[in-house]
Amino acid sequence: MCGIVGYIGEKQAAPILIEGLRRLEYRGYDSAGIAVSGQKVTVIKEKGRIDNLKAEIDRVYPVGTVGIGHTRWATHGIPDRSNAHPHSSMNGIVTLVHNGIIENYIEIKNELAEKGYVFKSETDTEVIAQLFDSLFNGNAVETMIKTAARLEGSYAVAMLVKGFSDKVFTMKKDNPMIIGAGDGEYFIASDIPAILPYTKDCYIVKDNDFVELRKDGITVYGIDGEEKAADINSINMSVDAAQKNGYDYFMEKEIYEQPKAFHDTVSPLIKDGSITLPFEFPKGFIKNLSRIHIVACGSAYHVGMTAKYIIEDMARIPVIVDIASEFRYRNPILNENDLCIFVSQSGETADTLASLRESKARGAFTMSIVNVLYSTIARESDGVIYTNAGAEIAVATTKALMAQLGVCYILAAFLAHEKGLMGDDILRNFTEEVLTVPEKIKKALCSSDNTKEIARHIKDRQSMFFIGRGIDYPLCLEGSLKLKEISYIHSEGYGAGELKHGTISLIENGTAVVAIGTDDALLGKMISNIKEVRARGAYVIAIVKEGTKGIEEVADKVIYVPCASRYLMPSITVVPLQLLAYHTTVLKGFDVDKPRNLAKSVTVE
Ligand code: F6R
Repeated sequence: MCGIVGYIGEKQAAPILIEGLRRLEYRGYDSAGIAVSGQKVTVIKEKGRIDNLKAEIDRVYPVGTVGIGHTRWATHGIPDRSNAHPHSSMNGIVTLVHNGIIENYIEIKNELAEKGYVFKSETDTEVIAQLFDSLFNGNAVETMIKTAARLEGSYAVAMLVKGFSDKVFTMKKDNPMIIGAGDGEYFIASDIPAILPYTKDCYIVKDNDFVELRKDGITVYGIDGEEKAADINSINMSVDAAQKNGYDYFMEKEIYEQPKAFHDTVSPLIKDGSITLPFEFPKGFIKNLSRIHIVACGSAYHVGMTAKYIIEDMARIPVIVDIASEFRYRNPILNENDLCIFVSQSGETADTLASLRESKARGAFTMSIVNVLYSTIARESDGVIYTNAGAEIAVATTKALMAQLGVCYILAAFLAHEKGLMGDDILRNFTEEVLTVPEKIKKALCSSDNTKEIARHIKDRQSMFFIGRGIDYPLCLEGSLKLKEISYIHSEGYGAGELKHGTISLIENGTAVVAIGTDDALLGKMISNIKEVRARGAYVIAIVKEGTKGIEEVADKVIYVPCASRYLMPSITVVPLQLLAYHTTVLKGFDVDKPRNLAKSVTVE
């Protein structure tokens, strides 16, 4: 949430900051700003998208080779110019940008107001600047440490400090921050894509690191003020991943990258028909494994729900799936025989991270399924399986979810095999079939023209339903979420059997219902449910496997998808759901990649 960039070197900072902010705009886009340090510190900020800021920068053209920038997703204070970052302290000691939330900002603000500090914004961020100002003793690092000691909550901060015009400073807690090392220049970013065009050599800033950047080097200090070693790692991610490459939107590109995302994720885990995970469970753990908890948010939660159907059926281990914002506060019952799995594209989602920490503290073994390398959830889990989906830029997830599903299939089969419920031959057949899924996803992508046509029929509807049974049910939630988050059409996902317990009263003439029926064993029941909503006037779009008989008689439109065994169908069925949301949104003329009020990587709770 929110994006931070920074630069120090020989080049003019403003164009580099703007370019970096454009690459991070998916993290927040209600206002943006930069501060450039030259003869003096020049702050430029504007409401709205980066283009507004760029126009103002072109007019003012701030000169200087040191600077910081920010693109905002509002938490405290409305999205306007006064609340946009950077914020400067009253005495001009510091100018800073911040991601995260300071929970005790009101208490500190009141204290500082009593000392005569005057605040110009409603943000918690300005409180950090004024606090730093009030504690400043001429030593920027010491003052950062003292400031951090007063802050409760989460933060990643980049700052310019008066008297240190050839330096940038940064500190962080529970929010990501990386430093890119170039040749005679250094970069700061809250997310890797911002610095990829310049360097792949990065230092991942740790919690309670306090870093001084110069154009010829960085020095990292710990909370005790002592210098620490800074290991620079090379990041394996291409600049390409952060480009649209001829597609109109990142979401479209990412939908079409799904066969590769799936393949690149599952194939390293399969060797000669057996499965090797990139980490080991403690000795005897699986034998005594009593329960699995899967914890995640949004689409990643839907992956968890899908995994429950597969793991319980294949490995006969009870699976409890929780939304992370509920799990962390519901006093969960956990012990050392429990496996807690955290699913997260960004690896930084605040509630998922807090749930991971809570589970570790309660003695459970933790593993994560994460897309962003070196992210906090990945680093703090006992075991991690990376989804090799590449950088996902569109706010609505597609290819990361596809890769997460791949990991769940593999994990379910691994557990079933370890528990002796799946023999070597069946495992071999299963892994062989998993490797055919990318071809089937490609075929499912061919339904694009059909879904575009259907999108014309639904784009002006006020409300929609997605219904399904069994393993199709979590996909109904996902299809519904995808549609509503980008097209702004209200929609709800329901277990088809649940509809008549209240919700069916909302079905009236012309209500659109997407009915998913890919499970042969449940198809007959789905057809009955379709008839029930159709009898009440619903316009039904059915998604079924190729060769399904009798569906055209009961549905208004049918999308056929390639066949696979039941466990693997979610990867195929989800494709037309994503395409439906995408085409509907394009037809409505909305920005597919940057839906209103949302941001990628939710680092506040
Ligand atoms: C929806 C979407 C979100 C994320 C959720 C979790 O399209 O992208 O619902 O799935 O915010 O984010 P991560 O996976 O980064 O933890």
